[in-house]
Amino acid sequence: MAYKTRDWRNSMRVTLDYNNMTDTFLGDKGFSERDLNKYASKAAAAFQYVKDNRGKDELYMGWTELPYNQKEIVADILATAKTVRKKFQYFVVLGIGGSALGPIMAFNALCHLHYNDLPKSKRKGPKFYVEDNVDPVRMRDLLDVIEPEKTCFNVVSKSGATSETMTQYLIILDLLKKAGVNVKDNVIFTTDAAKGNLKKISDECGGIKSYVLPDGVGGRFSQLCPVGLLPAAVLGIDINGLLAGAAYMDSVCRYPSMRKNPALMSAVLQIAAMEQGKNVGVMMPYSDNLKFLADWYCQLWAESLGKNVTLDGTPCNVGQTPVKALGATDQHSQVQLYTEGPFDKVVTFLSLKKYACEMPIPHGCESIPDVAFLGGHTMEELIQAENAATAYALTKAGRMNYTLWIPELNAFTLGQLLFLFELQTAYAGAMLNINTFNQPGVEEGKKATFALLGKAGYAEKKKELDSLPEKNPKCII
Ligand code: PA5
Repeated sequence: MAYKTRDWRNSMRVTLDYNNMTDTFLGDKGFSERDLNKYASKAAAAFQYVKDNRGKDELYMGWTELPYNQKEIVADILATAKTVRKKFQYFVVLGIGGSALGPIMAFNALCHLHYNDLPKSKRKGPKFYVEDNVDPVRMRDLLDVIEPEKTCFNVVSKSGATSETMTQYLIILDLLKKAGVNVKDNVIFTTDAAKGNLKKISDECGGIKSYVLPDGVGGRFSQLCPVGLLPAAVLGIDINGLLAGAAYMDSVCRYPSMRKNPALMSAVLQIAAMEQGKNVGVMMPYSDNLKFLADWYCQLWAESLGKNVTLDGTPCNVGQTPVKALGATDQHSQVQLYTEGPFDKVVTFLSLKKYACEMPIPHGCESIPDVAFLGGHTMEELIQAENAATAYALTKAGRMNYTLWIPELNAFTLGQLLFLFELQTAYAGAMLNINTFNQPGVEEGKKATFALLGKAGYAEKKKELDSLPEKNPKCII
């Protein structure tokens, strides 16, 4: 995919620095060359598994091909986005989980941090909201700030059976009808090609504009398909840049040797750390723009790796609890625990070499040395120093940490990060010998919700819930 020049692409390469995971920096708390070499053949096998199964819909590995197979879809999305940007004052994504975390992440990463508060002349597109919950207060408050007839609603659901998303849709449908708006004019679906309720609804309405969430792409791997690309394009984000960045990272990770493949090495570091009892993975960007990338990553890592059975049917309980933190904010909240608490964490820093702007710190308060030393520096220098200092403090305390260095934040580097994390997750799942792409553990809660709300076919489940012992009042204090 032609995207700027080769030199530019190489200058934008995201790199992995894992020095602070090694014994050189951590002494006996770190990995020696020998420790890591023990994983070389397992890593190569994981690489081969992912390579052999790329693009296979039946294994939910269609996401590997998204950077390459969407030329026409991208053209269609760009045309739709252009119309939406002209015609609507608000754009609302209705979705949850994998159908929402990607759009939230890209919005936050690549748009003004107060985008909705900017004057229209500076925004150049509709105000943007992603509703990923069924909190009634949140819905009420959304309806207080949008005008449904001036809003494009993007309903994103592969199944069209997700209670949260479909509840939101029912509310919006009712509002649009009451406002005398033809649903087809204000709604876009992103859903399964053939199955799923949104397809049925679209057919019944005589065809609602719909984008396909491809068969082989699960929710948490869907940011680079229309789920994420349409909202991003409406926001004016360079979606070709996102895909080019993903393709670039794919080529960077073409090596079976973990020493040359950052996604594979990252997976190895996490697996090796997990085997030492480091069951908590902290994702800590030093960038407000990347705060929600940590959220997106948490779902990817947790839902993919938290499993209780291996591919050959052996019971297991694997996974690593992802935690999101934000530098420098959480230095004043969580870093005390990371530095002195249990040795159960690996911290991944997302570090920007260059921020989108500089903010000089003026001189002042000259008689107060605690404050005066800041004058003459920039906020970029300060946040970078704090990032380096936190990595140093953790390392000094024997705490594993590593850094993904990002030259600057743009669509191309964000695309790289997404693909790197997706590959890392696929490699880690292969090393754990689990099904990375399913999520059976969330089904029980869904079924219990259906039973509690009286959905047909869930009478037995309701009986099961009703047969629970009475709550002991002594346990409610
Ligand atoms: O990652 C996943 O598969 C989930 O988080 C789904 O995206 C989420 O449950 C929403 O499902 P659906 O797209 O069917 O509404």
